Amino acid sequence: MDNEKRFVTGLDVGTENVRAVIATVNKNGEVAIVGYNEGKSAGMRKGIPANLTGPAEAIDRMLGDAERMGGYDVRSAYVSINGSTVISTHTEGMIAVGAVEHEIDNEDLNRVEDVAVTGRIPANRDVLDVIPLEYALDGQGGIKDPLGMSGARLEMRACVVSALSPNCENLKRATMTADVKAERLIPSVVAGAKAVLTERQKENGVAVVDFGATTTSIAIYEEGDLQYVGVIPIGSNNITNDLAIVLAIEPELAEEIKTRFITGDFDTEKSPAIKVGKHGERAFDRKEVEEVVKARLEEIFNEVRKKLKLAKYDQRLPEGIVLIGGGAKMRDIEIFAKKVLESAVKIGIPKGLDGVAESIQKPEFATAVGLAMLSAEENQYSAPISKKSSKAKKPGKSSGGLLKKIFSKF
Ligand SMILES: Nc1ncnc2c1ncn2[C@@H]1O[C@H](COP(=O)(O)OP(=O)(O)OP(=O)(O)O)[C@@H](O)[C@H]1O
Ligand SMILES: [Mg+2]
Repeated sequence: MDNEKRFVTGLDVGTENVRAVIATVNKNGEVAIVGYNEGKSAGMRKGIPANLTGPAEAIDRMLGDAERMGGYDVRSAYVSINGSTVISTHTEGMIAVGAVEHEIDNEDLNRVEDVAVTGRIPANRDVLDVIPLEYALDGQGGIKDPLGMSGARLEMRACVVSALSPNCENLKRATMTADVKAERLIPSVVAGAKAVLTERQKENGVAVVDFGATTTSIAIYEEGDLQYVGVIPIGSNNITNDLAIVLAIEPELAEEIKTRFITGDFDTEKSPAIKVGKHGERAFDRKEVEEVVKARLEEIFNEVRKKLKLAKYDQRLPEGIVLIGGGAKMRDIEIFAKKVLESAVKIGIPKGLDGVAESIQKPEFATAVGLAMLSAEENQYSAPISKKSSKAKKPGKSSGGLLKKIFSKF
Protein backbone atom coordinates (compact mmCIF):
# COMPACT_ATOMS: atom_id res chain seq x y z
CA MET A 1 0.00 0.00 0.00
CA ASP A 2 1.19 3.53 -0.75
CA ASN A 3 2.45 4.62 2.65
CA GLU A 4 1.65 8.29 2.09
CA LYS A 5 -2.02 7.55 1.51
CA ARG A 6 -2.81 4.97 4.17
CA PHE A 7 -5.29 6.29 6.69
CA VAL A 8 -7.22 5.43 9.83
CA THR A 9 -10.60 6.50 11.20
CA GLY A 10 -11.87 6.89 14.75
CA LEU A 11 -15.64 6.92 15.15
CA ASP A 12 -17.11 7.95 18.50
CA VAL A 13 -20.79 7.00 18.63
CA GLY A 14 -22.17 8.85 21.66
CA THR A 15 -25.70 9.26 22.96
CA GLU A 16 -25.81 12.97 22.23
CA ASN A 17 -23.09 13.40 19.61
CA VAL A 18 -21.25 11.39 16.97
CA ARG A 19 -17.68 12.38 16.09
CA ALA A 20 -15.17 11.19 13.54
CA VAL A 21 -11.46 11.77 13.08
CA ILE A 22 -9.66 10.69 9.92
CA ALA A 23 -5.86 10.63 9.98
CA THR A 24 -3.06 9.61 7.67
CA VAL A 25 -0.16 7.55 9.01
CA ASN A 26 3.32 7.99 7.56
CA LYS A 27 5.96 5.29 7.37
CA ASN A 28 7.27 6.19 10.85
CA GLY A 29 3.80 5.63 12.25
CA GLU A 30 3.20 9.36 12.80
CA VAL A 31 -0.42 10.39 12.66
CA ALA A 32 -1.69 13.56 10.90
CA ILE A 33 -5.32 14.60 11.13
CA VAL A 34 -6.85 15.17 7.69
CA GLY A 35 -10.56 15.20 8.47
CA TYR A 36 -12.95 15.46 11.37
CA ASN A 37 -16.54 16.30 12.11
CA GLU A 38 -19.19 16.14 14.79
CA GLY A 39 -22.96 15.99 14.63
CA LYS A 40 -26.04 15.18 16.68
CA SER A 41 -26.56 11.51 17.47
CA ALA A 42 -29.87 9.64 17.47
CA GLY A 43 -31.31 6.31 18.56
CA MET A 44 -28.85 5.83 21.43
CA ARG A 45 -29.80 5.35 25.07
CA LYS A 46 -27.19 5.59 27.84
CA GLY A 47 -24.40 4.82 25.39
CA ILE A 48 -26.15 1.83 23.79
CA PRO A 49 -28.02 1.64 20.45
CA ALA A 50 -31.77 1.60 21.04
CA ASN A 51 -32.37 1.13 17.31
CA LEU A 52 -30.14 0.78 14.25
CA THR A 53 -31.40 3.48 11.91
CA GLY A 54 -30.94 6.41 14.34
CA PRO A 55 -27.20 6.01 14.90
CA ALA A 56 -26.65 4.80 11.31
CA GLU A 57 -28.19 7.93 9.82
CA ALA A 58 -26.34 10.16 12.30
CA ILE A 59 -23.01 8.51 11.41
CA ASP A 60 -23.76 8.71 7.69
CA ARG A 61 -24.64 12.38 7.82
CA MET A 62 -21.68 13.35 9.97
CA LEU A 63 -19.10 11.23 8.11
CA GLY A 64 -19.96 12.77 4.75
CA ASP A 65 -18.36 16.10 5.71
CA ALA A 66 -15.33 14.53 7.42
CA GLU A 67 -14.70 12.47 4.27
CA ARG A 68 -15.04 15.46 1.98
CA MET A 69 -12.61 17.43 4.13
CA GLY A 70 -9.87 14.83 3.79
CA GLY A 71 -10.84 13.37 0.43
CA TYR A 72 -11.00 9.87 1.90
CA ASP A 73 -13.79 7.34 1.73
CA VAL A 74 -14.34 5.66 5.09
CA ARG A 75 -15.38 2.03 4.91
CA SER A 76 -13.98 0.85 8.25
CA ALA A 77 -13.17 2.42 11.62
CA TYR A 78 -12.26 1.86 15.23
CA VAL A 79 -15.53 2.51 17.07
CA SER A 80 -16.26 3.56 20.67
CA ILE A 81 -18.47 1.43 22.90
CA ASN A 82 -20.09 2.69 26.07
CA GLY A 83 -22.82 1.79 28.54
CA SER A 84 -22.81 0.32 32.01
CA THR A 85 -22.29 -3.22 30.71
CA VAL A 86 -18.69 -2.29 29.83
CA ILE A 87 -16.61 -3.65 32.71
CA SER A 88 -13.16 -4.98 33.53
CA THR A 89 -12.43 -8.25 35.34
CA HIS A 90 -9.14 -9.36 36.82
CA THR A 91 -8.37 -12.98 35.96
CA GLU A 92 -5.53 -15.44 36.32
CA GLY A 93 -4.31 -18.38 34.26
CA MET A 94 -1.64 -21.02 34.62
CA ILE A 95 -0.12 -23.52 32.15
CA ALA A 96 2.66 -26.09 32.22
CA VAL A 97 5.19 -25.32 29.48
CA GLY A 98 7.38 -28.43 29.76
CA ALA A 99 10.95 -28.79 30.91
CA VAL A 100 12.73 -26.07 32.92
CA GLU A 101 14.99 -25.25 29.95
CA HIS A 102 11.97 -24.51 27.70
CA GLU A 103 12.04 -20.96 26.32
CA ILE A 104 8.71 -19.14 26.55
CA ASP A 105 7.39 -18.36 23.05
CA ASN A 106 4.33 -16.64 21.59
CA GLU A 107 2.40 -19.89 21.54
CA ASP A 108 2.82 -20.23 25.32
CA LEU A 109 1.62 -16.64 25.79
CA ASN A 110 -1.47 -17.28 23.67
CA ARG A 111 -2.17 -20.49 25.57
CA VAL A 112 -1.91 -18.92 29.03
CA GLU A 113 -4.09 -16.00 27.84
CA ASP A 114 -6.69 -18.49 26.67
CA VAL A 115 -6.71 -20.15 30.09
CA ALA A 116 -6.97 -16.76 31.82
CA VAL A 117 -9.99 -15.75 29.72
CA THR A 118 -11.92 -18.91 28.78
CA GLY A 119 -14.60 -19.74 31.30
CA ARG A 120 -13.83 -16.64 33.39
CA ILE A 121 -15.96 -14.29 31.32
CA PRO A 122 -19.69 -15.19 30.97
CA ALA A 123 -20.68 -16.48 27.52
CA ASN A 124 -23.08 -13.56 26.92
CA ARG A 125 -20.16 -11.09 26.95
CA ASP A 126 -17.74 -10.12 24.17
CA VAL A 127 -14.12 -9.80 25.24
CA LEU A 128 -12.96 -6.40 23.96
CA ASP A 129 -9.41 -6.52 25.25
CA VAL A 130 -7.05 -8.61 27.37
CA ILE A 131 -4.30 -6.64 29.09
CA PRO A 132 -1.54 -8.84 30.55
CA LEU A 133 -0.64 -7.23 33.88
CA GLU A 134 2.00 -9.59 35.16
CA TYR A 135 3.52 -13.00 34.50
CA ALA A 136 5.14 -15.47 36.91
CA LEU A 137 7.57 -18.25 36.00
CA ASP A 138 7.80 -21.17 38.40
CA GLY A 139 6.21 -19.05 41.10
CA GLN A 140 8.52 -16.04 40.54
CA GLY A 141 6.25 -13.05 39.85
CA GLY A 142 6.72 -9.47 38.68
CA ILE A 143 7.63 -10.39 35.08
CA LYS A 144 6.31 -8.00 32.41
CA ASP A 145 7.58 -9.79 29.30
CA PRO A 146 8.49 -13.46 29.69
CA LEU A 147 9.32 -14.05 25.98
CA GLY A 148 12.58 -16.02 25.71
CA MET A 149 12.78 -16.68 29.46
CA SER A 150 12.86 -20.25 30.69
CA GLY A 151 10.67 -22.09 33.14
CA ALA A 152 8.29 -25.03 33.51
CA ARG A 153 5.17 -23.28 34.81
CA LEU A 154 3.81 -20.01 33.37
CA GLU A 155 1.20 -17.93 35.19
CA MET A 156 -0.52 -14.78 34.02
CA ARG A 157 -2.58 -12.06 35.69
CA ALA A 158 -4.74 -10.08 33.29
CA CYS A 159 -7.31 -7.31 33.10
CA VAL A 160 -10.08 -8.43 30.75
CA VAL A 161 -12.41 -5.78 29.31
CA SER A 162 -15.82 -7.01 28.18
CA ALA A 163 -19.33 -5.83 27.28
CA LEU A 164 -22.67 -7.57 26.81
CA SER A 165 -22.63 -9.31 23.40
CA PRO A 166 -26.00 -7.95 22.14
CA ASN A 167 -24.78 -4.37 22.73
CA CYS A 168 -21.59 -5.05 20.76
CA GLU A 169 -23.50 -6.76 17.98
CA ASN A 170 -26.06 -3.95 17.67
CA LEU A 171 -23.35 -1.29 17.58
CA LYS A 172 -21.53 -3.17 14.81
CA ARG A 173 -24.80 -3.49 12.90
CA ALA A 174 -25.54 0.21 13.30
CA THR A 175 -22.16 1.23 11.85
CA MET A 176 -22.47 -1.40 9.12
CA THR A 177 -25.85 0.06 8.16
CA ALA A 178 -23.92 3.30 7.58
CA ASP A 179 -21.47 1.34 5.39
CA VAL A 180 -18.69 1.38 8.00
CA LYS A 181 -17.19 -1.84 9.30
CA ALA A 182 -16.28 -1.64 13.00
CA GLU A 183 -12.76 -3.10 13.00
CA ARG A 184 -12.63 -2.98 16.77
CA LEU A 185 -14.84 -1.77 19.62
CA ILE A 186 -12.97 0.18 22.30
CA PRO A 187 -14.55 1.61 25.48
CA SER A 188 -14.89 5.37 24.87
CA VAL A 189 -12.91 6.27 28.00
CA VAL A 190 -10.05 3.90 27.08
CA ALA A 191 -9.81 5.45 23.61
CA GLY A 192 -9.93 8.93 25.16
CA ALA A 193 -7.10 7.98 27.53
CA LYS A 194 -4.94 7.09 24.53
CA ALA A 195 -5.29 10.66 23.22
CA VAL A 196 -4.73 12.60 26.45
CA LEU A 197 -2.38 10.63 28.73
CA THR A 198 1.41 10.48 28.70
CA GLU A 199 3.32 7.25 29.31
CA ARG A 200 4.60 8.72 32.55
CA GLN A 201 1.10 9.40 33.86
CA LYS A 202 0.07 5.83 33.05
CA GLU A 203 3.18 4.49 34.74
CA ASN A 204 2.72 6.49 37.95
CA GLY A 205 -1.03 6.06 38.32
CA VAL A 206 -3.84 8.15 36.83
CA ALA A 207 -7.56 7.95 36.09
CA VAL A 208 -9.44 9.32 33.09
CA VAL A 209 -13.08 10.26 33.57
CA ASP A 210 -15.19 10.64 30.40
CA PHE A 211 -18.02 12.95 31.48
CA GLY A 212 -20.49 12.40 28.65
CA ALA A 213 -24.13 13.30 28.11
CA THR A 214 -25.72 10.23 29.68
CA THR A 215 -22.75 8.24 30.99
CA THR A 216 -19.63 8.90 33.03
CA SER A 217 -16.88 6.36 32.42
CA ILE A 218 -13.70 5.73 34.36
CA ALA A 219 -10.42 4.15 33.27
CA ILE A 220 -7.57 3.67 35.76
CA TYR A 221 -3.93 3.17 34.73
CA GLU A 222 -0.92 2.12 36.75
CA GLU A 223 2.46 0.59 35.84
CA GLY A 224 1.69 1.56 32.25
CA ASP A 225 -1.38 -0.70 32.04
CA LEU A 226 -5.14 -0.36 32.14
CA GLN A 227 -6.22 -1.66 35.55
CA TYR A 228 -9.92 -0.87 35.67
CA VAL A 229 -12.86 0.28 33.50
CA GLY A 230 -16.33 1.13 34.75
CA VAL A 231 -19.30 3.14 33.48
CA ILE A 232 -21.87 5.07 35.53
CA PRO A 233 -25.22 5.60 33.77
CA ILE A 234 -25.49 9.30 34.64
CA GLY A 235 -24.04 12.25 32.73
CA SER A 236 -24.22 15.94 32.00
CA ASN A 237 -27.69 15.68 30.40
CA ASN A 238 -29.02 14.81 33.86
CA ILE A 239 -28.05 18.33 34.96
CA THR A 240 -30.01 19.81 32.06
CA ASN A 241 -33.04 17.64 32.82
CA ASP A 242 -32.93 18.56 36.53
CA LEU A 243 -32.88 22.26 35.64
CA ALA A 244 -35.77 21.83 33.20
CA ILE A 245 -37.85 20.10 35.87
CA VAL A 246 -37.02 22.30 38.87
CA LEU A 247 -37.27 25.59 36.98
CA ALA A 248 -40.21 24.36 34.85
CA ILE A 249 -38.49 25.48 31.65
CA GLU A 250 -37.91 23.89 28.24
CA PRO A 251 -34.77 21.68 27.99
CA GLU A 252 -33.19 23.99 25.37
CA LEU A 253 -33.26 26.87 27.82
CA ALA A 254 -31.96 24.64 30.62
CA GLU A 255 -29.06 23.63 28.33
CA GLU A 256 -28.32 27.29 27.58
CA ILE A 257 -28.26 28.14 31.28
CA LYS A 258 -25.96 25.19 32.02
CA THR A 259 -23.47 25.85 29.23
CA ARG A 260 -23.41 29.67 29.40
CA PHE A 261 -23.81 30.56 33.05
CA ILE A 262 -22.62 27.69 35.24
CA THR A 263 -19.04 27.41 36.42
CA GLY A 264 -17.50 24.90 38.83
CA ASP A 265 -16.31 27.59 41.30
CA PHE A 266 -19.65 27.74 43.07
CA ASP A 267 -18.40 29.68 46.09
CA THR A 268 -17.19 32.68 44.09
CA GLU A 269 -19.39 35.79 44.23
CA LYS A 270 -21.34 36.32 41.02
CA SER A 271 -24.35 38.34 40.01
CA PRO A 272 -27.41 36.99 41.89
CA ALA A 273 -29.52 36.69 38.74
CA ILE A 274 -29.01 34.69 35.56
CA LYS A 275 -30.54 36.60 32.68
CA VAL A 276 -31.34 34.95 29.33
CA GLY A 277 -33.14 35.99 26.18
CA LYS A 278 -32.17 38.74 23.71
CA HIS A 279 -32.86 41.53 26.17
CA GLY A 280 -32.34 39.54 29.35
CA GLU A 281 -36.11 39.29 29.78
CA ARG A 282 -36.04 35.94 31.58
CA ALA A 283 -34.24 35.94 34.91
CA PHE A 284 -33.47 33.04 37.24
CA ASP A 285 -32.22 33.05 40.78
CA ARG A 286 -28.57 31.99 40.54
CA LYS A 287 -28.58 30.38 43.98
CA GLU A 288 -31.48 28.12 43.07
CA VAL A 289 -29.91 27.17 39.72
CA GLU A 290 -26.53 26.47 41.29
CA GLU A 291 -28.06 24.28 43.98
CA VAL A 292 -29.65 22.06 41.35
CA VAL A 293 -26.43 21.78 39.33
CA LYS A 294 -24.28 21.23 42.40
CA ALA A 295 -26.51 18.43 43.73
CA ARG A 296 -26.25 16.48 40.46
CA LEU A 297 -22.52 17.13 40.03
CA GLU A 298 -21.95 15.97 43.59
CA GLU A 299 -23.86 12.76 42.88
CA ILE A 300 -21.86 12.09 39.70
CA PHE A 301 -18.43 12.69 41.25
CA ASN A 302 -19.39 10.74 44.38
CA GLU A 303 -20.25 7.81 42.10
CA VAL A 304 -16.86 8.24 40.41
CA ARG A 305 -15.23 8.16 43.82
CA LYS A 306 -17.14 4.99 44.71
CA LYS A 307 -15.73 3.32 41.59
CA LEU A 308 -12.22 4.49 42.48
CA LYS A 309 -12.69 3.02 45.97
CA LEU A 310 -14.04 -0.23 44.53
CA ALA A 311 -10.94 -0.50 42.35
CA LYS A 312 -8.80 0.36 45.41
CA TYR A 313 -7.39 3.52 43.82
CA ASP A 314 -9.21 6.22 45.80
CA GLN A 315 -6.61 8.91 46.69
CA ARG A 316 -3.92 6.57 45.42
CA LEU A 317 -3.30 8.18 42.05
CA PRO A 318 -0.16 10.36 41.99
CA GLU A 319 -1.05 11.84 38.57
CA GLY A 320 -4.61 12.56 39.67
CA ILE A 321 -7.70 12.58 37.49
CA VAL A 322 -8.05 13.78 33.89
CA LEU A 323 -11.52 14.83 32.71
CA ILE A 324 -12.64 14.42 29.08
CA GLY A 325 -16.02 14.44 27.26
CA GLY A 326 -18.49 17.26 26.65
CA GLY A 327 -19.34 17.53 30.36
CA ALA A 328 -15.72 18.55 31.02
CA LYS A 329 -16.36 21.78 29.05
CA MET A 330 -18.17 23.35 31.98
CA ARG A 331 -15.92 26.22 33.02
CA ASP A 332 -13.86 25.49 36.14
CA ILE A 333 -15.41 22.03 36.52
CA GLU A 334 -12.01 20.83 37.75
CA ILE A 335 -12.37 23.05 40.84
CA PHE A 336 -15.58 21.28 41.86
CA ALA A 337 -14.33 17.80 40.91
CA LYS A 338 -11.20 18.32 43.00
CA LYS A 339 -13.28 19.06 46.10
CA VAL A 340 -15.39 15.91 45.81
CA LEU A 341 -12.63 13.56 44.63
CA GLU A 342 -9.96 15.02 46.96
CA SER A 343 -7.44 14.57 44.19
CA ALA A 344 -5.69 16.70 41.58
CA VAL A 345 -7.98 17.17 38.55
CA LYS A 346 -7.26 18.56 35.09
CA ILE A 347 -8.93 18.68 31.70
CA GLY A 348 -7.62 16.29 29.05
CA ILE A 349 -6.89 17.73 25.61
CA PRO A 350 -5.80 15.50 22.68
CA LYS A 351 -2.19 16.38 21.91
CA GLY A 352 0.85 15.51 19.84
CA LEU A 353 -1.14 15.80 16.64
CA ASP A 354 -0.16 17.05 13.21
CA GLY A 355 -2.43 18.22 10.43
CA VAL A 356 -5.64 20.13 10.92
CA ALA A 357 -5.54 19.36 14.60
CA GLU A 358 -6.32 22.69 16.23
CA SER A 359 -10.09 22.42 16.05
CA ILE A 360 -10.14 19.05 17.75
CA GLN A 361 -7.94 19.98 20.69
CA LYS A 362 -10.99 19.77 22.92
CA PRO A 363 -11.94 17.28 25.65
CA GLU A 364 -14.98 16.04 23.71
CA PHE A 365 -12.80 14.95 20.77
CA ALA A 366 -10.43 12.82 22.91
CA THR A 367 -12.29 9.56 22.19
CA ALA A 368 -12.43 9.94 18.39
CA VAL A 369 -8.76 11.00 18.28
CA GLY A 370 -7.72 8.11 20.54
CA LEU A 371 -9.62 5.62 18.37
CA ALA A 372 -7.73 6.84 15.28
CA MET A 373 -4.43 6.66 17.18
CA LEU A 374 -5.13 3.11 18.37
CA SER A 375 -6.04 2.06 14.85
CA ALA A 376 -2.71 3.48 13.61
CA GLU A 377 -0.78 1.80 16.43
CA GLU A 378 -2.37 -1.56 15.70
CA ASN A 379 -1.65 -1.20 11.96
CA GLN A 380 -5.30 -1.28 10.99
CA TYR A 381 -5.01 0.95 7.95
CA SER A 382 -7.69 1.49 5.36
CA ALA A 383 -6.80 1.06 1.73
CA PRO A 384 -7.01 4.39 -0.07
CA ILE A 385 -9.81 4.53 -2.56
CA SER A 386 -9.17 6.45 -5.75
CA LYS A 387 -10.56 9.99 -5.81
CA LYS A 388 -12.80 8.97 -8.69
CA SER A 389 -14.59 6.14 -6.93
CA SER A 390 -14.59 8.10 -3.67
CA LYS A 391 -16.38 11.01 -5.35
CA ALA A 392 -18.80 8.69 -7.04
CA LYS A 393 -19.86 7.21 -3.75
CA LYS A 394 -20.29 10.34 -1.68
CA PRO A 395 -23.45 11.92 -3.09
CA GLY A 396 -25.29 8.63 -2.69
CA LYS A 397 -23.92 8.15 0.78
CA SER A 398 -25.39 11.26 2.30
CA SER A 399 -28.46 11.67 0.18
CA GLY A 400 -30.56 8.61 0.32
CA GLY A 401 -28.02 5.81 -0.21
CA LEU A 402 -28.39 4.73 3.35
CA LEU A 403 -32.16 5.00 3.41
CA LYS A 404 -32.37 2.96 0.23
CA LYS A 405 -30.24 0.33 1.90
CA ILE A 406 -32.42 0.28 5.00
CA PHE A 407 -35.69 0.12 3.10
CA SER A 408 -34.41 -2.57 0.77
CA LYS A 409 -34.34 -4.81 3.83
CA PHE A 410 -38.11 -4.64 4.24
N1 LIG B 1 -19.83 24.34 27.81
C1 LIG B 1 -20.44 23.31 28.38
N2 LIG B 1 -20.71 23.32 29.71
C2 LIG B 1 -21.33 22.29 30.30
N3 LIG B 1 -21.71 21.18 29.66
C3 LIG B 1 -21.46 21.10 28.35
C4 LIG B 1 -20.82 22.15 27.63
N4 LIG B 1 -20.70 21.77 26.34
C5 LIG B 1 -21.27 20.55 26.24
N5 LIG B 1 -21.72 20.14 27.44
C6 LIG B 1 -22.45 18.89 27.73
O1 LIG B 1 -21.72 17.78 27.29
C7 LIG B 1 -22.62 16.71 27.00
C8 LIG B 1 -22.24 16.06 25.69
O2 LIG B 1 -21.01 15.43 25.87
P1 LIG B 1 -20.49 14.31 24.87
O3 LIG B 1 -20.59 14.81 23.49
O4 LIG B 1 -19.17 13.87 25.38
O5 LIG B 1 -21.60 13.19 25.11
P2 LIG B 1 -21.83 11.82 24.33
O6 LIG B 1 -20.53 11.21 24.01
O7 LIG B 1 -22.76 12.04 23.20
O8 LIG B 1 -22.61 11.01 25.46
P3 LIG B 1 -22.30 9.59 26.12
O9 LIG B 1 -20.79 9.47 26.18
O10 LIG B 1 -22.91 9.65 27.47
O11 LIG B 1 -22.92 8.57 25.23
C9 LIG B 1 -24.01 17.30 26.99
O12 LIG B 1 -24.71 16.96 28.17
C10 LIG B 1 -23.74 18.80 26.96
O13 LIG B 1 -24.74 19.55 27.61
MG1 LIG C 1 -19.23 9.83 24.89
